[in-house]
Amino acid sequence: MSISIQHLNKLKANREKIAALTAYDASFARLFSEQGVEVLLVGDSLGQVIQGHIHTIPVTIDQVVYHTHCVSRGNQNAFLVADMPFMTYSTPQQSLENAAQLMRAGAQMVKLEGGEYLCDSIRRLVEQGIPVCGHLGLTPQSVHTLGGYRVQGKTAESKDKIFRAAEALVEAGIQLLVLECVPSDLAADITGRLSVPVIGIGAGNGTDGQILVSYDLLGMHASPPKFVKNFMQDAETIQQAVQQYVAAVKSVEFPSTDHCYDR
Ligand code: KIV
Repeated sequence: MSISIQHLNKLKANREKIAALTAYDASFARLFSEQGVEVLLVGDSLGQVIQGHIHTIPVTIDQVVYHTHCVSRGNQNAFLVADMPFMTYSTPQQSLENAAQLMRAGAQMVKLEGGEYLCDSIRRLVEQGIPVCGHLGLTPQSVHTLGGYRVQGKTAESKDKIFRAAEALVEAGIQLLVLECVPSDLAADITGRLSVPVIGIGAGNGTDGQILVSYDLLGMHASPPKFVKNFMQDAETIQQAVQQYVAAVKSVEFPSTDHCYDR
């Protein structure tokens, strides 16, 4: 049976961790979903791992649509989220047009990076039956504004801003939130406060689930950030590595303190 947002809500309620991974093609989508990965994200990280760019900024809507088609054909039962790339959701109308393309390609939810200024767009999407995932903390499409890929939410002011943004996005209608590169205690506080599941990456083990860029989990990052674990290290096959990732997320062994940022 296909995994729905209601199922993810149940996992949160039962305190069972959610295992998520990025996927960009049919073969990996099939393999990941067969090994128990519950959420697949067609991430704009495809700009880096597929296309060889240093940022996600060059990725276009047509490219994410293409990869969403591919992933949806291989996916067995995971919940499929697709990223809205840079500058494809600047107005509510633009968000609707681009999100519609992702939904037609097989996405079950679209993900937008950013805070309170997105609330109007989120409301319009939700009114039109398009489920939305927020993305706060380190938002890679804003890398030049943030001054690099840095941990966010370290000062009281920044922590407060992320907290308020998370609450505003939920109020506007998001049903899932990705929190990237924030101190573990902030991520745990936000997770405890919100009614929707929170998936972390570099956000400690107090979130409702974890996501990694799949190529990083497979040991393909040349200089991996602190929050990445290479699950190929102790595996003989990709299937085994993914099984170990899912088991480590479920048992809260991953992320360990070595993969976390403290205040
Ligand atoms: O694009 C992506 O892969 C992402 C994850 C890092 C969450 O947004």
